[in-house]
Amino acid sequence: MTDLAIIGGTGLNKLEGINIIRRRVMRTPYGEPSGPLTYGEINGNEIVFLPRHGTGHTIPPHKINYCANIWALKEIGVKEVISIAAVGGINNKLAPAQLAVPDQIIDYTWGRENTFYEGGAGKVIHIDFTHPYDNALRTRIINAAQKAGIAIFEGGTYGATQGPRLETAAEIDRMEKDGCDLVGMTGMPEASLARELDLAYACCAVVANHAAGRGDKEEISMKEIELYLNKAMQQVRELLIVVLSNPSST
Ligand code: HPA
Repeated sequence: MTDLAIIGGTGLNKLEGINIIRRRVMRTPYGEPSGPLTYGEINGNEIVFLPRHGTGHTIPPHKINYCANIWALKEIGVKEVISIAAVGGINNKLAPAQLAVPDQIIDYTWGRENTFYEGGAGKVIHIDFTHPYDNALRTRIINAAQKAGIAIFEGGTYGATQGPRLETAAEIDRMEKDGCDLVGMTGMPEASLARELDLAYACCAVVANHAAGRGDKEEISMKEIELYLNKAMQQVRELLIVVLSNPSST
């Protein structure tokens, strides 16, 4: 039985260090997920991996079929989802290569398919989303980081932007005033769709760069993003191995 899924973001298209058991191509009422689901095993614990941007990183944030991805994971019986997501750091404590486990979200995205509850013949359903991330799963990530000796920022508000362009400095100023600590393009509607299907969902954010107008650089360099992501993803892999080796939410 596979309880835990990892949705990998930019810089994490596959999970090294895990024994691959099989791959499964899924179809859903919402179309195809970003790629085949990869079943892996570590210390006798099975997990499932899904690369959010596709196996070859070809799907931009606004074109990801979030509904199909979350539906497919629910369909195979997954109970918990850890999202790995590259972000820009707005809070000055969040420098490149730092990891964070946010506890709040502000959604600035638009035009994305963002619900399984479209009304019609079904009932109108409003989910509670006061605390968008599952606290037990967040704690599990934080505990695993402590065990692995990896520094991790606990809390913070994730601002989800539409992309695929990065933000302007003024947009980041506004987001900071709103209370955002991190900015990324894929956190929504992924988190609310997971809640709609009653999946425990938490995010391990990986700071790839100072957000626009932050830090001491005039512009955001893609080369630097890649460099920091490569560095930080090594830590994410170590962290996930500890999480996966300790299956229960304790
Ligand atoms: N903004 C939005 N998404 C991102 C960023 C950013 O600065 N860095 C990595 N993903």
